[in-house]
Amino acid sequence: MAQASNGKTTNQKLIAWVEEVAALTKPDDIYWCDGSQEEYDRLCGEMVESGMMIPLNQELRPGCFLARSDPNDVARVENRTFVCWDDPEDAGPNNNWIAPDEMRETMNGLFDGCMRGRTMYVVPFSMGPMGSHIAHIGVQLSDSPYVAASMKIMTRMGQAALDVLGDGDFVPCLHSVGAPLEPGQEDVVWPCNDTKYIVHYPQDRSIWSYGSGYGGNALLGKKCFSLRIASIMAKEEGWLAEHMLILGLTSPKGEKTYIAAAFPSACGKTNLAMLIPPEGYEGWTVSTVGDDIAWIKPGDDGKLHAINPEAGYFGVVPGTSTKTNPNAMKMITRDTIFTNVALTDDGDVWWEGKDGDAPDHLIDWQGNDWTPDCGRLAAHANARFTVAAINCPSLDPAWDDPAGVPIDAFVFGGRLSSTFPLVYEAKDWEHGVYMAATMGSEATAAADNQAAIRRDPMAMLPFCGYNMADYFTHWLGFADKNIQLPKIFRVNWFRKDDAGKFIWPGFGENMRVLEWVCERVQGNVDSVEGPLGNMPRYQDLNWSGLEFSSDDFGGIMDLAREDGSNEANSQKELFDSFAGRLPDEMEAQRQALLSDMESAPEVWRAAS
Ligand code: GTP
Ligand code: SPV
Ligand code: MN
Repeated sequence: MAQASNGKTTNQKLIAWVEEVAALTKPDDIYWCDGSQEEYDRLCGEMVESGMMIPLNQELRPGCFLARSDPNDVARVENRTFVCWDDPEDAGPNNNWIAPDEMRETMNGLFDGCMRGRTMYVVPFSMGPMGSHIAHIGVQLSDSPYVAASMKIMTRMGQAALDVLGDGDFVPCLHSVGAPLEPGQEDVVWPCNDTKYIVHYPQDRSIWSYGSGYGGNALLGKKCFSLRIASIMAKEEGWLAEHMLILGLTSPKGEKTYIAAAFPSACGKTNLAMLIPPEGYEGWTVSTVGDDIAWIKPGDDGKLHAINPEAGYFGVVPGTSTKTNPNAMKMITRDTIFTNVALTDDGDVWWEGKDGDAPDHLIDWQGNDWTPDCGRLAAHANARFTVAAINCPSLDPAWDDPAGVPIDAFVFGGRLSSTFPLVYEAKDWEHGVYMAATMGSEATAAADNQAAIRRDPMAMLPFCGYNMADYFTHWLGFADKNIQLPKIFRVNWFRKDDAGKFIWPGFGENMRVLEWVCERVQGNVDSVEGPLGNMPRYQDLNWSGLEFSSDDFGGIMDLAREDGSNEANSQKELFDSFAGRLPDEMEAQRQALLSDMESAPEVWRAAS
């Protein structure tokens, strides 16, 4: 077996940890990733050899591969995700909890010998621009070459991260697919285990993930480190780790506004981050800093500064087309790993919602023949692309700036087919935190207006590593710091008509809402006080290039008194779940909304 550090680091904690994990998991070999292109190419070559990846047609998709996961390993497993505080109250009702000692015993049992017959990859990475004061170093140990290659795309990975680490501290991220090989045993294409555990230990800021090789379960720099562990670090150190995209908007006047926006999973962050302004917006540019996660710290200039801790995108493929996300379509023409999409007869990829008709024949995401009439999806609904940020045509010039970008507005949006207006602005910080904390989203894209909503505060419900009542307190506390607070907005692209059709055209047209947000930030446009917050009138938005009447606008902006009251009443359930720990400001805001609704007109009209 290779020597523990191979002379690549003098970090004693790291060397000792690698030795300790190797003694427990008993891999055949240990390999330290240097992060080079040669290494990435070699890893991909080995996976092609083993059948784990299929090279795509190099003329149509140069540098692209297809991987097909096990049908039991296709998405994050929230019910197998644990945050092991000593006290379950610290984990809160938003997390699964098992006592750390008990969990350690279970994990030690599962990890004993779990890497037999495999190589253990040592994957050092920086979340955030190398050496940025906002960034942090992690090291992942994994027995999956797919994970090692994906980490090269998704993070700043390799020797450079070790050099930045020096003798400093890092977040240890241990990962195994949980499928040891006996001598002579043939491997399967996608090894994994039916038993899955995604475990976080807040006290020593470490992560142990077992049984899955997919997405956020396995790329531990993403949700496990950058959100669950980082949210805990952020609370202790006075910053924010959020499930937010970051984008820049430059007006024809040259004013640049950066916005960070939180939407639950599969609710359009990637689309919005790469938006191309529609007709009528000549002179505007939109640029992308990140599409999933933001780390935000107070800067010397009194503003909040954000970095994207990631260096790539792990984006939902189905639904991506030249209509919905032309930048993403360009971005994934080369050097992309596709997972769980369909394969065409000429070695290209296909998915539901791609431009054009479905081909007559495909190999579906499970490797079976597929025809348009077979009644099955060709691509899995959570099929994903993994691609480097530098492939993104709209990448912001400051995307890798160690200082981050100054954030002027926070936007929060769920998938809500009724009640919630297209856009409104918080009256102040406290009101904004309440608006974000009570955000809901529909679990499914059912055409049913009555679909049950799940409260997903700040789009962080599955990602906040501690009791969310304390998280609300942490957010409220920013008002007491000497910083220029961003304005807070709520948006909703998903209002439906009686026939179940989306009323708002969305995608590029969301620019009209973003422009109003920018102009509010810059102080260039008015608003009127609505029942939920400050709102634009019809004439306050730019309609050039889009046919959308003031009646249409009313359809997604008006609020019935009954709906508003029902909303305020139903928020009680969320607040009750936090019992004695909820900050008083939250309930005071809810009471204020209830009493405002009592004196509101039967239907509040926004059009004029
Ligand atoms: P994660 O990567 O899971 O965190 O999610 P994400 O927020 O990046 O989700 P993504 O961009 O992949 O969401 C895609 C889904 O949102 C698809 O179903 C899109 O059709 C839908 N979507 C995005 N923007 C809009 C919009 O403006 N209007 C409508 N109606 N749907 C949208
Ligand atoms: C999400 O589920 O919010 C994602 C995908 O961004 S994953 O990385 O798998 O968590
Ligand atoms: Mn996400």
